[in-house]
Amino acid sequence: DHTNADTLRTPIVAVLGHVDHGKTSLLDTIRGSAVSEGEAGAITQHIGATDIPLDTISGMAGDLIDPTDFDLPGLLFIDTPGHHSFSTLRARGGALADIAVLVVDVNDGFQPQTEEAIDILRRTGTPFVVAANKVDTTPGWNPQDGQPIQRSLAAQSERAESMLNENLYEIIGQLSDAGFSADLYWRVQDFQKNIGVVPLSALTGEGVPDLLTVLMGLSQRFMKEEMAIDVQGPGEGTVLEVKDERGFGATIDTVVYDGVVRNGDQIVVGGQDDPIVTEIRALLQPRPLEEIRTEKKFEKVAEVGAAAGVKIAAPDLDRAMAGAPVRVVRDRPLEEVIAEVEAE
Ligand code: GTP
Ligand code: MG
Repeated sequence: DHTNADTLRTPIVAVLGHVDHGKTSLLDTIRGSAVSEGEAGAITQHIGATDIPLDTISGMAGDLIDPTDFDLPGLLFIDTPGHHSFSTLRARGGALADIAVLVVDVNDGFQPQTEEAIDILRRTGTPFVVAANKVDTTPGWNPQDGQPIQRSLAAQSERAESMLNENLYEIIGQLSDAGFSADLYWRVQDFQKNIGVVPLSALTGEGVPDLLTVLMGLSQRFMKEEMAIDVQGPGEGTVLEVKDERGFGATIDTVVYDGVVRNGDQIVVGGQDDPIVTEIRALLQPRPLEEIRTEKKFEKVAEVGAAAGVKIAAPDLDRAMAGAPVRVVRDRPLEEVIAEVEAE
């Protein structure tokens, strides 16, 4: 029965945008940690995955969200790097995503990697919303920490509000030039036809409740069919990164988007030459709200259901490839699974 709540998986949300426009800061605010402080030059060089449970989302969204309206378990955010040299990582994140957040600095507007991200979203047909970030940098801004954006706008001077509006309409115009009809999100009736623009600040948190509300609404209304999966089916995922982990050797940071992966499962992983056939020795999961990229203490788990980020330890993974498919064999013929991985 696919309408049962426990058969709905977490939607995967990719966060895309130009370098320094605030993708990691936005996720930091959402998870209340400070990953960007530990990064080399504050540049995101790898894709990370963060699971935000529905409880946390509804806590942050306050009275904008009634959690009983939702039966999706939360949102799984994938951070991507904006620096121009990381285009394959961006494409990988975009292709994995069910929905996306395109982060645009309200002062800078569209920049080269904004255009590149839009191209990825168009190519993959991924629904997205625009986070018009850094509204707090508007001259004369009166910050309203963590508040919904309408409440924050009500506290601004006319001058500050009109300066912000000018920037927002510039972005709406740029979206239109890119072939997307867009408007401020509260004016959008049909999120399948129009792109919603959410003004916000990753620094002060204002507007973040709105973004979470729009993302949950989008997923619940338009993605629910696609979120209905066979939770007991053989797991499928994508390798984000191949990493050496002390005591485990080469491991793969993986986003599982379908079925279930169990410790001891035989898996087939796309390799630099041939597909790798191996057996899972350990499934290592960061705790909810922790970041798979920075989390040092993983918890060994018996199984992981979609969607989730998990580190898989198994022999022979040193020739695994970032971006490659991961498939659990379970009761399927091994040759068939190998052929599938080769074809991807
Ligand atoms: P890359 O991963 O390199 O593509 O950058 P990013 O998009 O993840 O940007 P990041 O979150 O690292 O932020 C870049 C800079 O902008 C940092 O100095 C942040 O503190 C600052 N910043 C991000 N969001 C805001 C905001 O809402 N307001 C203000 N004032 N500064 C912000
Ligand atoms: Mg970043």
